[in-house]
Amino acid sequence: KILILDFGSQVTQLIARRVREAHVYCEIHPCDVSDAFVQSFGADGIILSGSHASVYEAETDKAPQAVFELGVPVMGICYGMQTMAQQLGGKVEAGTKREFGYAQVRARGHSALFRDIQDATNAEGHGLIDVWMSHGDKVTELPAGFKVIASNDTTPIAAMADEARRFYAVQFHPEVTHTKQGQAMLERFVLDICAAKPDWIMGDYISEAVAKIKAQVGDEEVILGLSGGVDSSVAAALIHRAIGDQLTCVFVDHGLLRLNEGDMVMDMFAGRLHANVIRVDATEQFMGKLAGVSDPEAKRKIIGAEFVEVFKAEAAKLKASGKGHQGATFLAQGTIYPDVIESGGAKSKKAVTIKSHHNVGGLPEQLGLKLLEPLRDLFKDEVRELGVALGLPRDMVYRHPFPGPGLGVRILGEVKRDFALLLQRADAIFIEELRNTVDEKTGKTWYDLTSQAFTVFLPVKSVGVMGDGRTYDYVVALRAVVTSDFMTAHWAELPYSLLGKVSNRIINEVRGINRVVYDISGKPPATIEWE
Ligand code: XMP
Repeated sequence: KILILDFGSQVTQLIARRVREAHVYCEIHPCDVSDAFVQSFGADGIILSGSHASVYEAETDKAPQAVFELGVPVMGICYGMQTMAQQLGGKVEAGTKREFGYAQVRARGHSALFRDIQDATNAEGHGLIDVWMSHGDKVTELPAGFKVIASNDTTPIAAMADEARRFYAVQFHPEVTHTKQGQAMLERFVLDICAAKPDWIMGDYISEAVAKIKAQVGDEEVILGLSGGVDSSVAAALIHRAIGDQLTCVFVDHGLLRLNEGDMVMDMFAGRLHANVIRVDATEQFMGKLAGVSDPEAKRKIIGAEFVEVFKAEAAKLKASGKGHQGATFLAQGTIYPDVIESGGAKSKKAVTIKSHHNVGGLPEQLGLKLLEPLRDLFKDEVRELGVALGLPRDMVYRHPFPGPGLGVRILGEVKRDFALLLQRADAIFIEELRNTVDEKTGKTWYDLTSQAFTVFLPVKSVGVMGDGRTYDYVVALRAVVTSDFMTAHWAELPYSLLGKVSNRIINEVRGINRVVYDISGKPPATIEWE
């Protein structure tokens, strides 16, 4: 396995995803772990991530010294390269200007890292590699034992290596897709140089995970909050595979789900998987609490808190009903690896809260339950692969993400039941058309070509004309974005014909809406959701 030390770059997770794509298991830990941690981790190799910091800032992070004394291969990326250079006796200089964007570097010598990697050749026949740069500082003097393995005019030491000690470093970012052969470089490192075993395969993972869950749970019982989202669904299917009837799923319907979503969840889990599922229709309760509230943060807090209340009440009922001898002692959650990194990692020490995400943090303590989180080690794409391997329908597993507060943040201002009913129908039309329209160039549906798409209800009325009559009805906005990480996003360039058809259908089929607009804002400065 590979140890990735995080110096706080926005893209550290991408390094881990690339390594996992090579079927090698890896973990991300903060850069300030102890020497003892590094020594006992059992790494086949270590990767030092980038950072937004400069090695010249007052408080600079260094890699634990043990990294360079362990005898395993080490790869530094961007800041990781600079700290490697600095710590091993080379020199780093503060750049006067930032180098940002595409660059070409010339590979030098025959390093194992760039074996058979080349995107072009220059006039003299030297191999060139297309890379993505994002740095200000740079290494200006090699540490002893190192040689240059890639360079260009602006960055003469664009990559360096001490092949005897198996230390490699690159100033550019192989983990982002803009570096075309970045995946190949990371594979050279983890597979060839570290000789890590490519044994991280989802199909095999099931039996291992099932055995682990069985061992952890024994003959006790588990409850799980099923939301219909990908993570909780896959967690439910996996745990059900392991312990069958010892699992009870509680599905809280807050009345702010997508059209027919509740029935679909029940069909899948109760109907097809034969799992114990309790459906709680808490629509009235949620609507009551939300009445008169229009501030987005207040709405999020109310929905989150109410969810906890309903779930707690259900858990208490379950206990009182005497199912099993002592009721559930475990709470299962669909926590995935990015959640783990974000809550405990080295990152975002100073990040501001743009939106408080609805989650059920604190619930296990309040309920006095032990936690079962079988997806803790997995990235989203791995969770999806696992879901398919467990027999969940592709459509469900590859669904666009849906926020915890649901339509509560897609009805701007005060949430009303009538608004939710209109929005559900309008949104269902939009999604149906995206699923049914195939792009000729790629052969994919527009649903698959977008990362997230939905409809937003605007509580304003505008004038329209229908037949001979005047209408005075509500407006909805269509939102569709393309993104790889949901941190930044582009609005999707949907075909006009598709937008036209969706607009026509919504206005004709959903009485109460007479105008449809399309949101053409990117993130940043807008966010994906409107609230
Ligand atoms: P924004 O609107 O912040 O959204 O650009 C980024 C992604 O996060 C989702 N989102 C949420 N997910 N609970 C969630 O589980 C929430 O409260 C929440 N708010 C936003 C959003 O749908 C998008 O995918």
